[in-house]
Amino acid sequence: MIGEVKNICCIGAGYVGGPTMAVMAYKCPDIKFNVVDSNPIRIEKWNDEDLSNLPIYEPGLKKIIKKCRNKNLYFSLDVEKHIKEANIIFISVNTPIKTTGIGAGKASDLKWVEVSARQISKYAKGTTIVVEKSTLPVKTAETIKQILDTESNNLYSHNSKKFTVLSNPEFLSEGNAINDLLSPDRVLIGGDDKSSINTLASIYKKWVSKEKIITTNLWSSELSKLISNAFLAQRVSSINSITALCEETGAHIQDVSLAVGLDKRIGEKFLEAGPGFGGSCFKKDILNLVYICDYYGLHEVSKYWNSVVEINEWQQKRISQIILKKLFGTIAGKKIVILGFSFKANTNDTRNSPSINICKKLIEEGANLIIYDPKVTIKQIQDELGCNLNINNKKNSDFEGNWSFCKSLNDAFLKADAVVIMTEWSEFKDLDFEIMSRDMRKPAWIFDARGIINISKAKLYDLNLWSVGNGMINNDNLKNKF
Ligand code: NAD
Ligand code: UGA
Repeated sequence: MIGEVKNICCIGAGYVGGPTMAVMAYKCPDIKFNVVDSNPIRIEKWNDEDLSNLPIYEPGLKKIIKKCRNKNLYFSLDVEKHIKEANIIFISVNTPIKTTGIGAGKASDLKWVEVSARQISKYAKGTTIVVEKSTLPVKTAETIKQILDTESNNLYSHNSKKFTVLSNPEFLSEGNAINDLLSPDRVLIGGDDKSSINTLASIYKKWVSKEKIITTNLWSSELSKLISNAFLAQRVSSINSITALCEETGAHIQDVSLAVGLDKRIGEKFLEAGPGFGGSCFKKDILNLVYICDYYGLHEVSKYWNSVVEINEWQQKRISQIILKKLFGTIAGKKIVILGFSFKANTNDTRNSPSINICKKLIEEGANLIIYDPKVTIKQIQDELGCNLNINNKKNSDFEGNWSFCKSLNDAFLKADAVVIMTEWSEFKDLDFEIMSRDMRKPAWIFDARGIINISKAKLYDLNLWSVGNGMINNDNLKNKF
């Protein structure tokens, strides 16, 4: 039994640990929250006086950090100290896909979870509730329990330790994290110790109504998280698979999405066509599901879910091929402006962004890319695409592909052959087509991979348009539809 919760520690100050603890601290002023991370640069940024240097961009986050930081919310490198003090410890570390060994390319790499469990097992004191916040394969709690139990059963240890393990997966979506955390659709707590479940639930009850807090066993909770992501990703792949059909037939994907989504049984959300889903979780979680299904010999089920990932990759390949084809089959030496590098709007996260594959393909074909994103840094793009050849002066010929970073849109379009809209940032919804038409080399193209620009407005200028799920916009389909 744990008494009153006074001190909570979260291991992992990333996209989940940071905002989640910030919102909890905001809603529970009587509890002290310590978010620890082994990455000194991350911690330094979380503690930066200038709130525009926080390591992650999330609307509404700065305001909460300003209110709680150094009052009841602390960011620290001292993992040992804060584990020792805590009544509840959240594990919110990264769980990427394994790159080597058994399960490489599909199974989650649980290295960081294991290290965290070992640290907790070593340093924790008294009774501690350990909460899985990271997305984990079914049955991971068993591994965590085994590691923790080695210490609680240690006859030579002077401290008596007791652990319970709960699963409390996070459903926030980046770019909307603060709203999602303040008003979640549900909070899921899995476990077999009633008292620990009640303790964790009592924290959420400070701002979430009790009907929304659901409790299950550990395995249902772990699996529900993977399946939620798989179902969401499946919707994106389903609508994206129809874009190509719309482009062939003259149907418009936005009309189809609207008509389909108005059926309440289907619902309107997650039917926006685009260049394919990105982000750190969908691909990893589906591949993990594929791996688990194969492990249990359920090969048909595994093939079914794998196809969701395959369609996603197909959509990215398809869009790069369309760009190449429309620019007369060659883009060597041509200037192409890429608008948006994050995997979606309102986040600075570039992990698995569809922009990465599409940019790589265009560079491979010899294009000169000018990349602009309101929140992504040049360093992040360098990490994803490799070095900017312009900066390092390594370019051998005018026809060798390269990229450069652009800080403002003002000069980006000069002599450009094409503009590709990759992310749905609101500033791309209202581009200045007059300036684009004046500055670009003709025939100039806009490829709208998100379907966000005002087509009839853009068509007033001398610009060729292609929009995902609508295809090439000509005067006939403009009259009919837009
Ligand atoms: P992240 O990479 O942004 O953050 C993880 C952090 O943990 C890193 O800063 C890393 O340095 C730190 N870390 C790893 N091992 C550590 C250790 N032993 N001690 C101290 N620090 C350690 O990852 P994220 O996006 O926050 O995701 C975390 C988990 O949450 C993943 O399992 C992910 O699948 C899941 N999830 C992510 C999202 C999302 O939107 N990003 C949403 C829901 C769930
Ligand atoms: C997703 C889930 O929405 C969260 O519930 C979950 O907690 C999280 O994964 C996770 O486990 O990490 P996130 O990846 O942050 O959240 O972002 P989403 O809004 O789901 O978008 C994922 C990708 O799908 C983006 O590239 C987005 O542009 C794309 N998408 C989404 C579309 O192309 N169309 C849509 O209609 C919706």
